[in-house]
Amino acid sequence: DGTGTAVTGAGTSQDRRTAEGEGAQTLTTRQGHPVTNNQNLRTVGNRGPATLENYHFLEKMSHFDRERVPERVVHARGAGAHGVFEAYGKVGNEPIEKYTRAKLFNTAGKQTPVFVRFSTVIHGGHSPETLRDPRGFAVKFYTEDGNWDLVGNNLKVFFIRDAMKFPDMVHSLKPDPVTNRQDGGRIFDFMSNTPESVHMLTFLFSPWGIPANYRQMQGSGVNTYKWVNKEGVAHLVKYHWEPLQGVKNLTQPEAEAIQAKNFNHATQDLYDHIERGEFPQWELRVQLMSDDEHPELDFDPLDDTKLWPEDQFPHLPVGMMTLNKNPENYYAEVEQVAFGTGVLVDGLDFSDDKMLQGRTFSYSDTQRYRVGTNYLQLPINAPKKHVATNQRDGQMAYHVDTAPGQNQHVNYEPSSMNGLKEAAKPGEDHTPSYNAKLLRQPIDRQNNFKQAGERWRLHSDVEKDDLINNLVDAISSAVPEVQQRMVELFTQCDAEYGRRLAEGLKAFKGSNGQQFQGNGHHKAGAEAVAQAEAV
Ligand code: HEM
Repeated sequence: DGTGTAVTGAGTSQDRRTAEGEGAQTLTTRQGHPVTNNQNLRTVGNRGPATLENYHFLEKMSHFDRERVPERVVHARGAGAHGVFEAYGKVGNEPIEKYTRAKLFNTAGKQTPVFVRFSTVIHGGHSPETLRDPRGFAVKFYTEDGNWDLVGNNLKVFFIRDAMKFPDMVHSLKPDPVTNRQDGGRIFDFMSNTPESVHMLTFLFSPWGIPANYRQMQGSGVNTYKWVNKEGVAHLVKYHWEPLQGVKNLTQPEAEAIQAKNFNHATQDLYDHIERGEFPQWELRVQLMSDDEHPELDFDPLDDTKLWPEDQFPHLPVGMMTLNKNPENYYAEVEQVAFGTGVLVDGLDFSDDKMLQGRTFSYSDTQRYRVGTNYLQLPINAPKKHVATNQRDGQMAYHVDTAPGQNQHVNYEPSSMNGLKEAAKPGEDHTPSYNAKLLRQPIDRQNNFKQAGERWRLHSDVEKDDLINNLVDAISSAVPEVQQRMVELFTQCDAEYGRRLAEGLKAFKGSNGQQFQGNGHHKAGAEAVAQAEAV
C-alpha cells in the first residue's frame, strides 16, 4: 500500500517505501488507521475502568506480548554481520575440481555473499560476552546453487563425539534446575564421567576459552564433512577460518576487568570496526584426507574430539571472507537467522561423523519451533536464487515458492500439466556402500588423552598457569570423588598436568569449595596426589 518500511535484511537493498507527501509520518495501527491518541486508554471517566473495545490498545499490547520468540536453546547470545566470500579457485596449489565440484569455490575471484553470526553458547540472550564458553562461528553462504551453512565454533574440537550425549552435556553446563546457577560441581560430575571431554577442557579452561572479541578468533567446522568431485569421488574434509587480525585471548582476570565495565564488548567491537570501515577478514582453509577409515592413525578421523595433525594434513587455503556491513535490524537478521549442518550445496556432503548426523536433525527441528514452519521464507534465511517447491501453507506462509509460468493448480510432482520438474544431475552421485551390523556402540579408537596431553605441553607458561587456576576454581565446587576423577583423567593426559591440578585443589581455600582430600581409590589420581605432596 506504499506505507511502511520492509526490513529485508540479508544484504539486499532495503526497501524503504514511504508514502509521498503529507501524512507520511503519521502513526497508524497495523490496519492503517491513523492513531489520534497514543497516550490514553479509552475509559469510563478519566479514572477507569477500561473498556474491551480499545482496539488500538489491544493491538499494541498484544503485539508487544508476542515480541519475543523463544531464544536459541544454545548460542542465544550473538552478533552478526554481512559480507562476502571470495574464492581462490584452487585448494592450496592444486586444482579444486580434483576434490569438489561445489561451484562457489571453482573460479578465482568468484564472490559469494555471506551472513555470519558469532555467539556464546550456554547462557541467555543478554548474558555477558566475557564468559568462559566456546564461541559459535556460523556462516551462511548464499551461493548460486542455494545456501550452504558452515556452522562451527572457534575451538577446533568438541566435548563429546556422539550426538546422543548432547542434551545431557548441555544440561550439565546450563544453570542447575533447582538453584538456577551454573555449577562446577554439576559440570565436572558430567565431564569426569565423559573422558573424551579432556581435550576440549584443556582448551576451554585456558585463555583459549575466552577470546578477546569475535574478530580476533579462529573458526572451525569441527565435524568432518566430505567433498565430492564430478566423478562422484569423495574426500574427507575439515574446515578452518584463520583471522587476518590475529588471535587474541583473555586470561580470567583480564576478562573480569572488562566485564566489570561492559558486558557487550564483543558485539560492540564487531559493530564499531565495521562501521569504521575496518572490515575483519578470515581465510578459509581445509584439511583433506582420502575417504576411508585410516587404520594407520591412532584416532578415528570422524571423531570430533581430535585434531588432524597439521604436519600430515596441512591447512590448504581456498578463499577469503570479509565482513563489511552491519545488520540493519538486529531482530530480523541476527535473531531470526537459522543455520544448520544439513544445509549443503552440490559438491559438499556429509561424512558418517555421528555428531554431525545428530546435529543435522536438530537444527531445522529447533528452527521450525523457534522461528516457525516457514522460517526459510524470511529474507535472511531465503536463498538469493530462485526457490520453487511444492510445499504450501503453514503458519506465517508469506508467499508461494513458485516458478514463473508454473501451473498454480499443480503443487505436486510428477505432472504433465506444467508443474515443477527435477533438475539435471550435476555429476556422478557419491554412493558409499555399507556392510555392518546395526548396533549401539562407541567407536574403537577413542584415544582420549594423547592429544589433550600434547595440548597441555604446547600451552605457554601463562596459559598453563591460567588453565590450572581456572580448573581449580571450577572443580573445587565438585564433591571429592569428582575432583579425584578429574585429577585422574588429567594425569593420564600428562603427569605434570594432573600433579599441578591436584596441588591446586589441595591448596584451594575458596569460599564455596570442598576440600580435596586426594585419598581416592583411583591409582593414577592417588599417584598424582602423592607427587603433589612430595613437591
Ligand atoms: C546452535 C544443536 C553441536 C555450533 C545450535 C542450536 C541447536 C544446536 C538446537 C540452536 C539453533 C537455533 O535455534 O537456530 C546441536 C546439537 C549438537 C551440536 C544437537 C551435537 C549433537 C555443535 C557443534 C558445534 C555447534 C559441535 C560447533 C561446530 C553451533 C553454533 C550455533 C549452534 C555456532 C549457533 C548458530 C547461530 O548463530 O544461529 N546447536 N549442536 N553445535 N550450534 Fe550446535
